[in-house]
Amino acid sequence: MKFGHFDDKNREYVITQPDTPLPWINYLGCQAYFGLISNTGGGYSFYRDARLRRITRYRYNNVPLDFGGRYVYLRDDQSAQFWSPSWQPTRHDAENYTCRHGMGYSIIGSTYQGIESHTKYFVPLDETLEVWQVTVTNHRATKATISAFASIEFCLWDAQDDTTNFQRNFSTGQVEVEDGVIYHKTEYRERRDHFAYFACSRPTAGFDTQRESFLGKYRGWDKPATVEAGQLTNSVAHGWSPIGAHQVKLELAPGETQQITFVLGYHENPQDQKFDPAGSQTVNKTLVKPVIAKYLDTVTVDSAFERLRQYWDGVLGLFQVDTPDPHTNRMVNIWNAYQCMATFNMSRSASFFESGIGRGLGFRDSNQDLLGFVHMVPSRARERILDLAATQLPSGGAYHQYQPLTKRGNNDVGGNFNDDPHWLIIGVSAYLKETGDWSILEEKVPYDNQPGSETPLFEHLQRSFQYTLDRLGPHGLPLIGRADWNDCLNLNCFSDTPGQSFQTTTNKDGNTAESVFIAGLFVLAGNELARIAKHHGKAALAEQYLAEVAKMDAVVRKHGWDGEWFLRAYDDFGAKVGSKECEEGKIYIEPQGFCVLAGIGLEDGMAAKALDSTRKHLATKHGIVLQQPPYSKYYLNLGEISSYPPGYKENAGIFCHNNPWVIIAETRLGHGDEAHDYYLRINPSAREDIGDLHRCEPYVYAQMIAGKDAPSHGEAKNSWLTGTAAWNYYAIAQWILGIRTSFDGLRIAPVIPKSWPGFTATRTFRGVVYTIAIERKGPGNTIALTVDGKPIQGDIVPPPTDGRTNVVVKGVLS
Ligand code: BGC
Ligand code: NOJ
Repeated sequence: MKFGHFDDKNREYVITQPDTPLPWINYLGCQAYFGLISNTGGGYSFYRDARLRRITRYRYNNVPLDFGGRYVYLRDDQSAQFWSPSWQPTRHDAENYTCRHGMGYSIIGSTYQGIESHTKYFVPLDETLEVWQVTVTNHRATKATISAFASIEFCLWDAQDDTTNFQRNFSTGQVEVEDGVIYHKTEYRERRDHFAYFACSRPTAGFDTQRESFLGKYRGWDKPATVEAGQLTNSVAHGWSPIGAHQVKLELAPGETQQITFVLGYHENPQDQKFDPAGSQTVNKTLVKPVIAKYLDTVTVDSAFERLRQYWDGVLGLFQVDTPDPHTNRMVNIWNAYQCMATFNMSRSASFFESGIGRGLGFRDSNQDLLGFVHMVPSRARERILDLAATQLPSGGAYHQYQPLTKRGNNDVGGNFNDDPHWLIIGVSAYLKETGDWSILEEKVPYDNQPGSETPLFEHLQRSFQYTLDRLGPHGLPLIGRADWNDCLNLNCFSDTPGQSFQTTTNKDGNTAESVFIAGLFVLAGNELARIAKHHGKAALAEQYLAEVAKMDAVVRKHGWDGEWFLRAYDDFGAKVGSKECEEGKIYIEPQGFCVLAGIGLEDGMAAKALDSTRKHLATKHGIVLQQPPYSKYYLNLGEISSYPPGYKENAGIFCHNNPWVIIAETRLGHGDEAHDYYLRINPSAREDIGDLHRCEPYVYAQMIAGKDAPSHGEAKNSWLTGTAAWNYYAIAQWILGIRTSFDGLRIAPVIPKSWPGFTATRTFRGVVYTIAIERKGPGNTIALTVDGKPIQGDIVPPPTDGRTNVVVKGVLS
């Protein structure tokens, strides 16, 4: 069953039924000011950091679901009936409900008793504000007298504190109302230089800033007393819960349309110009007033929206494909790329499933996110790499996470996730291949953000690699530390105390448990580092790295192979994890995908065997599960993985992030059919028709789909913020379609299904537009390329040397 449809031409998903199985969200903003918005107007906004600069309040896991957001109410002042055009919060049965989630904007509305209304929500580029453009049309035969209300609830900035520290927070709230604009200035009197504002383009008939005055005692957002009565009360909040609500009166002739613009924004004043007049407690508004005035003007709003559209034309236009498969086209051209922007911006911080207070930017996550993002805005990728590297520790290890506002590593989580450092190599390598900007390796970057500790970025990569060499276990495999990619395989944890964090509790010395996954990652990263070193003029180092890689490769074959597949790990007792000898958890996906994609066992049949075993034991029609059989009970020696009921999350869920590893692995063996078949199993667009089972948005990947051992096999959870976005984008773009960046240029090496007659693509790479047409003449993956009509040797298109910015590439597969 479907709850809407794709409008590919407009790059929108159009939801036509408001009660989707879960709130289906979109993101507003792509630079510094961000919002989440659900298909019924729910969600919240923040500036840079979802925890520390939360602008509006949102109650997670609320009942009813998804209550609280950017709500518009309309009231027919003749009949006294009121409703919300976005369905929530009043949930009237309106006609023609639609929510169009587009690239950085959402348009939500419906028609009720002849009054049509839609609100377009977006964040203009380069601004720290959001615009709500409300359009109201009277389809009645008679004049309509309408009150329009717009409302938000302010958060008192630190979202964690906001939901817990009521003894203080109920007394700190402060606002100002001036010229019809509501300013939220809680804590501005002390150490904050920032405030929020909520403005309206029309003269208002009233406002409210105290929640209880607006809602009425014991009422909810579904039935505010003031909206019901048709008059706001001009309340000025002092303590309790500051909100922003405006009322505008409209008279609409039959057929008439009118627009109102609301602007919700964030502003920071220079510290020495906080108050006006100086010495008073009144917010200095001189700097913000022109910004507000600008966006209350319809012409500015329309052109800002147009600019946003053009921005996305540009970003998405960098890579466009036309293949025989509509799901591939739609995801590559629109939604998967768009999701990569969201994961780059949010890491794993704020979604419907991530509360914005729990996790900052993850070291491994953000590095992997670059794989899908780096071609879009390389300058931002560069900045991110340098920020990440600055949270690396002198040992080569890294803080597992950092807070985007402070850019400092989080001490609560610390480090010792032994895979972390290698992802920096992967991230930097992706950046270098995309941009050819070798200067980044010379950038001086500190360790742990300590001034004076700076070394060139290249040395950070060296330390990343060395980190593992300094931490080898009894079999010569990398020690796992707190966890590797699989945060839930906690082999040194041994926690029997409820509530302890599996990731930060360590009860063992850590000198025994080893990870075959990290070994695969080490091989991949080591090969990349060797290539980087060579290009960087350090051939001797490159040789050393290759020698270490070869050693590790041999260790994996010797101690990391179980006969039919790669082992997963050795636990603290030195016992195998992910082996036929185990009672449960005999085979894991990660080492199969990752060792093969790293190139281990390609020649001697191990790789092929590992992938056969994956297909046999782990593949389902909804994707490939993480391991089998699932853990039926809690294992002290394994940790969080066995805390989940079978079929969920890391305990045999379909953890979509690692499916593309197997997809890439299949392409490395030349298996285009298998690769694309796996690709489609978890492709959200291809799952649109089973929306009532899948339940999450059909336009973005979810982290997990319930595995075959769960009662709800096929049900997705944790959509949006997952490494699945970048990895699937990378798998389809660079390995199946085979348009792959390399240090030497753009490689064209497709491994596509046999049934495809070919495909076309355009790819902007280092400032040159490559127009690519691939034609299949035989069933294999051997490619013959012509560039601007001339045949070339090999599969790397030489970059034009004569300043041309358009290159035509034709490839024939046989
Ligand atoms: C989840 C993991 C996640 C980890 C982060 C665990 O509960 O299952 O997927 O990586 O938390 O802390
Ligand atoms: C989600 C985390 O964000 C990621 O870092 C981790 O690799 C996966 N879960 C697997 O545990």
